Amino acid sequence: MSQTPRPSHPVLTTTAGSPVADNQNSLSAGPRGPLLLQDVHLVEKLAHQNRERIPERVVHAKGWGAYGTLSVTGDISRFTRAKALQPGAKTDLLMRFSTVAGEAGAADAERDVRGFAIKFYTEEGNWDLVGNNTPVFFIRDPLKFPDFIRTQKRHPVTNLRSATAQWDFWSLSPESLHQITTLFSDRGLPTDVRHIDGFGSHTYSLVNEAGERVWVKFHFKSQQGHRHWTNAEAAEQVGRSRETTQEDLYAALERGEYPRWTMKIQVMTDAQADDWSERTGWNPFDLTKVWPHADFPLIEVGVLELDRNPVNYFAEIEQVAMSPANIVPGIGFSPDKMLQGRIFSYPDAQRYRLGAHYNALPVNAPRCPVHHYHKDGAMRFFEPRTVDADAYYEPNSVGGPKQAPGFAEPALALRGDADRFDHRDGNDDYTQPGNLFRLFDEGQRERLFANIAAAMRGVPEHIQRRQLAHFDKCDPAYGRGVAMALGLAEGAGSAGATGAAAEVSVA
Ligand code: HEM
Repeated sequence: MSQTPRPSHPVLTTTAGSPVADNQNSLSAGPRGPLLLQDVHLVEKLAHQNRERIPERVVHAKGWGAYGTLSVTGDISRFTRAKALQPGAKTDLLMRFSTVAGEAGAADAERDVRGFAIKFYTEEGNWDLVGNNTPVFFIRDPLKFPDFIRTQKRHPVTNLRSATAQWDFWSLSPESLHQITTLFSDRGLPTDVRHIDGFGSHTYSLVNEAGERVWVKFHFKSQQGHRHWTNAEAAEQVGRSRETTQEDLYAALERGEYPRWTMKIQVMTDAQADDWSERTGWNPFDLTKVWPHADFPLIEVGVLELDRNPVNYFAEIEQVAMSPANIVPGIGFSPDKMLQGRIFSYPDAQRYRLGAHYNALPVNAPRCPVHHYHKDGAMRFFEPRTVDADAYYEPNSVGGPKQAPGFAEPALALRGDADRFDHRDGNDDYTQPGNLFRLFDEGQRERLFANIAAAMRGVPEHIQRRQLAHFDKCDPAYGRGVAMALGLAEGAGSAGATGAAAEVSVA
């Protein structure tokens, strides 16, 4: 009797586990077809392929990720009781970096803000710090976010990105000046993500063992330093490869070159917040403002290191659900309106993008016990381990999970009438971007002017002039420099704005 040879590889099966006899030829009536509908393997393959894409993130669609750790070397226990931030703590984490505006297939070497999102798998639940490589943002009210993003995405008719829409919106939203100045500076086009800093950007809160709250900003300083491309260099890179950041990060980790960031915080007490507001007129919860380091010095917390590539990009990076709503005891929110908007937006996006049970996916699952009463729904694939079989409602008398009042945050006193307050009223949008501009040396200023002029190419002159008036209020040299680069300044010659911009060198 002839023996079936033992395969040295596993047997191919359908998703139902049935062995597949032929993965090369579909089942047909005769060699020339037609095909038979009972070829379940063919049907499954074609149907499965049709379901391999999920909606890309509505923003930050293009991303790169890696695993690592946070090691706490400092002592900030006087500010927070979060276990992951206690001296000596070491916490596993996953980071996803991204660009904001491009689609999932966008080129990496584009001028754009870089996302800097961290999921800390702490023993008290997942803490996500979903920040950027900039300390501020374009807007300060979440009601403006969908409009802002629309100007960054494609025009509904041309299906092209529209510089006119971008500068129309920005020139009508002077709160964007601080972020615009960063975006068009050298930092707006990093060569990769190992050479960028990270910021939590918002004001968050820390609560200590005694139940005392302080306001906090998180900073991550790259130990690799900073590297940037000019527009011209980036254009050359994109011509060579659209995946420069992915190539850089993946290869560095495979070589054993592990990028590191020093984690630091700035802290403000409630009393300091009142005093600072009074002195400067600035709101400590305004995402378009930084807290000056001279007034609120950086305090060292520890070291974040990335040391491992994911093994399945889709399962681990595309399916990761980063959310500012994910906080842990000892770390809390603040009144920042933008943060408040984001707390709603991310879990909502993820229920749509990944499904109701997105937090049960391996990459999102907390590395601590999870006990909740949410039930059923699509893809309820995990064990019914969250509750005892009889404890499927609460309160119950069968020993189901119960609330733990010890984790309650201290009360936060709020005051004020419920109303729609004009967030531009009396708000100084010019001093801080002006201060940033004044930090730049001659070369940095020239590149800033040229980058802005290049981005304004083709934008109607009345919009350019409206924006120039804002730059002028930040610093007359800022307004003049961009006007010269655009050919709109006195003595800049008679070249039209568009022509002059096109000739600007970004070397
Ligand atoms: C991604 C909304 C402001 C950083 C996202 C996503 C949404 C969103 C819906 C996709 C989430 C997903 O599908 O998983 C908003 C809204 C904002 C806002 C409504 C303002 C009201 C900001 C700010 C920052 C930021 C101020 C940084 C300080 C990020 C990052 C990602 C992201 C890094 C990508 C996260 C990842 O890698 O998965 N945002 N966003 N966003 N956002 Fe925001």
